[in-house]
Amino acid sequence: MGKDVIIACDFDSAEKTFAFLDKFTGKKPFVKIGMELYYAEGPSIVREIKKRGHKIFLDLKLHDIPNTVKKSMAVLSRLDVDMTNLHAAGTKRMMEAAIEGLTRADGTRPMLIAVTQLTSTDQQAMENDLLIKEPIADVVMHYASCAKDAGLDGVVCSPLEAGKVHERCGAGFVTVTPGVRFADGDIGDQKRVMTPAEAKKIGSDYIVVGRPITAAEDPVAAYERCIREFVD
Ligand code: C5P
Repeated sequence: MGKDVIIACDFDSAEKTFAFLDKFTGKKPFVKIGMELYYAEGPSIVREIKKRGHKIFLDLKLHDIPNTVKKSMAVLSRLDVDMTNLHAAGTKRMMEAAIEGLTRADGTRPMLIAVTQLTSTDQQAMENDLLIKEPIADVVMHYASCAKDAGLDGVVCSPLEAGKVHERCGAGFVTVTPGVRFADGDIGDQKRVMTPAEAKKIGSDYIVVGRPITAAEDPVAAYERCIREFVD
């Protein structure tokens, strides 16, 4: 499994997405399709981007009863995405059901990774709203362990947590990390950020990069800079 840069295609229409992807003549970056674009365009956007030759991380963060997640994952696996995800908070049984649903008749399946605690949830919100009293770092590691026990391939986490996740769950357990910014770039609304080079050093397997590429004056140059810093 190689390191790669995944571009977060956070657009609200197919038109804007293709106008963006058309800039990448000859290159086929790994792209993330999230809720915004998927809910705007439906499964056809996945098929069309796949047809253009891109790898796809379908970021829909499923969380429901095991049976519903299993059946939904079976539908997503027919879309032939390369990676998809769910909330570890749905429990081990839900994660196991997800794997069953995602596995095709020939035994293959897309990579499945878990969201632990969203980075928008802080200690206070976790304690007050979710009644979880343990330190958030322990909760994140526990959820990562549960995901590993359930047979998942990895977790979405902050680049700052990637090293610890590998220590706890093994080097082969994949870390997919958003919150990446260039050293000379705008942080925007992200709180804890790392450069692609730092994310590489700390052991992230995939970085998810949105606005530093999508809002750049020259998105192709920004993407190539990420590849140079993170992969090469
Ligand atoms: O534009 P930016 O690089 O901040 O985009 C990061 C992407 O990663 C967005 O699609 C965002 O929803 C996603 N993400 C995140 N933090 C998480 C989980 C996902 O920024 N904890």
